[in-house]
Amino acid sequence: MNIAINEAQLTQEIDTLALFSATEPPSVTRIVYSEQDLQARAWFKERCCEAGLTIREDAIGNIFAHWIGSQSDLPAIATGSHLDAIPHAGKYDGVVGVLGGLEAIRALQRSGFQPQRSIELILFSAEEPTRFGIGCFSSRLLGGVLTSEADTLLKDQQGNTLQQLRNQAGFTGPIDSVCLKRDAYAAFVELHIEQGPILERDHLQIGIVTSIAAPASFRIEIQGEGGHAGAVLMPARRDALCAASEIILAIESFASKTGAVDTVATVGICNVHPGAVNSIPSRVEITVDLRDTDETRRNRVAEQIQEACNQIAVKRNVSVALHKINADAPAQCSPHILQAIEEICNQESISYQKMVSRAYHDSLFMARIAPIAMIFIPCRGGVSHRPDEYAPPEDISRGVKVLAQTLARLSHT
Ligand code: HGY
Ligand code: MN
Ligand code: MN
Repeated sequence: MNIAINEAQLTQEIDTLALFSATEPPSVTRIVYSEQDLQARAWFKERCCEAGLTIREDAIGNIFAHWIGSQSDLPAIATGSHLDAIPHAGKYDGVVGVLGGLEAIRALQRSGFQPQRSIELILFSAEEPTRFGIGCFSSRLLGGVLTSEADTLLKDQQGNTLQQLRNQAGFTGPIDSVCLKRDAYAAFVELHIEQGPILERDHLQIGIVTSIAAPASFRIEIQGEGGHAGAVLMPARRDALCAASEIILAIESFASKTGAVDTVATVGICNVHPGAVNSIPSRVEITVDLRDTDETRRNRVAEQIQEACNQIAVKRNVSVALHKINADAPAQCSPHILQAIEEICNQESISYQKMVSRAYHDSLFMARIAPIAMIFIPCRGGVSHRPDEYAPPEDISRGVKVLAQTLARLSHT
């Protein structure tokens, strides 16, 4: 099978898609259900129609672009990723899996390949936690990890519910129609930039992901007592931000001392009230992103964080409430798909290594309903979630070619 990737067209499409952004180039900001997101979806659907794919959209805006196979009664082979982007992100995270998946299908079409199992390209409505505070809400709903209550429970910073926002965006179907059956797909394979430095550092061309780390996230609310920055003497203070600072340093220490480099913790959001230079912080809210390849080790750190909150609350005479947002199991990739990818890399003389994904992806939740695998390509300096995120066209093309051959092989099983 002679698969040729149209690198120029794919590069052009990645650059065009990046323009659907709420921030100026080179940064990309594309929040789910925002104007830029809806424009990007419409543009993407046009590209899929040009490729002769049939389109289905579900009640939260997941897009399914379908290439029907000769044995369309069998569970399909799926690929895909996301197009939403956190504030001031780059233009490759998620996009490589969506536009790369489309180019993999077009390249197979150009080669004359005929699918037996249908091949489906999925655009997940949102993978990033930016709008609703939880990552992968759409693949969680597809995989049955989130239930219909999410429609009214998930809210953005302005208090808009998922139901209100999806309806405003034109997605008005019943939320419980989103969940897919367990055997909806025979396999799901996602192409993604590594979002880490290993492949580039080790001069490897492809990463074959064996497992996806277990993510957890929490919201911690600290309530102290406000007051005049000049008038309230230090011994009388119950400063919520000082308490939060002690908690944040404790979190860093716990994650650093598990004895494993795979434990990572990040406090990425810290909202201070009232946020005035001459007013003692009365209330602080922080979010914690905690991950590990080992779920038990991760949960131990979560327990340590809870214990530290309790101790610091007493010590500083403040109240501290820790709310779990999510605590997910890691996902294992399917051995038979890993073997297929490895064989393809070997026959194409592509250098690769098996590795863990420290970032989470929609594959983490697609694993609940189908065998999964992920294909990584290097990204410069391991940088991601920044405007200087970059993947060379030849690396993207190589990843797309491996994806195309994997999809073709799985479609004929
Ligand atoms: O945060 C993550 O792991 C993903 O990039 N959203
Ligand atoms: Mn991301
Ligand atoms: Mn991503």
